[in-house]
Amino acid sequence: MRILFVGDVVGRAGRTAVSELLPGMVRDWSLDLVVVNGENSAGGFGITEAIYRELIDAGADAITLGNHAWDQREALVFIERADRLVRPLNFPKGTPGRGAALVEARNGKRALIVNAIGRVFMTPFDDPFACINRELDSCRLGEAADAIVVDFHCEATSEKQAIGFFCDGRASLVVGTHTHVPTSDHQILPGGTAYMTDAGMTGDYDSIIGMQKEEPMRRFTTGIPQARFEPALGAATFSGLAVETDDRSGLALRVAPVRTGGRLEPTLPGFWAS
Ligand code: FE2
Repeated sequence: MRILFVGDVVGRAGRTAVSELLPGMVRDWSLDLVVVNGENSAGGFGITEAIYRELIDAGADAITLGNHAWDQREALVFIERADRLVRPLNFPKGTPGRGAALVEARNGKRALIVNAIGRVFMTPFDDPFACINRELDSCRLGEAADAIVVDFHCEATSEKQAIGFFCDGRASLVVGTHTHVPTSDHQILPGGTAYMTDAGMTGDYDSIIGMQKEEPMRRFTTGIPQARFEPALGAATFSGLAVETDDRSGLALRVAPVRTGGRLEPTLPGFWAS
């Protein structure tokens, strides 16, 4: 199966890159499954139903969230009817929506999408290890699901690596989100799970993690907030990673970063060259 994961889409710049580039990638690379982290897609904060639809229409099969899941309050309501929108699994019991979704991929196969949030340097929710473990135990790769993608939304590289190894052999891909900066450690772990500590953001990199630089710079240098954070509006770099899995085991055969447009040096998966 051919899987594309798209890192945190930030604001209009990120959404424009997705709508302009994703349909061509789906077509040219014959993608079976596209997962997009959309927690910053609405002006940098949260997601609306209209934007959820826009990302699905552009080619996303599932959309994951994170600490900004509820910044747009309407998400608390529409998530119940948005069956491809996945919020962190380890949010408190009773939270609207779902932390995992079994979706049908374009090739008719079943893909489990799991989203969880870290506890280091973040609001500590339920134990992500225990929650992910329960999910992977109840939906086994190669049996109940043909592919499993875990988006671990987290600040600390150590916690992300730990989740990667914790899931190794039980998921097709464990990918980190949230820091908005791509890492260069994409690899297939010893048990066969593709892994990358952070997929990077799909947004304007002439920014401070996607936001126009002035206000964050002011807060760093003076400690005094004076304005709202506004997303940067320059051309976005589309940032994520590509994974090809074995159809029988669901484990990864190949992994490569995907970066194109905007300011970062481009890199595309050579194994899907069209
Ligand atoms: Fe985040």
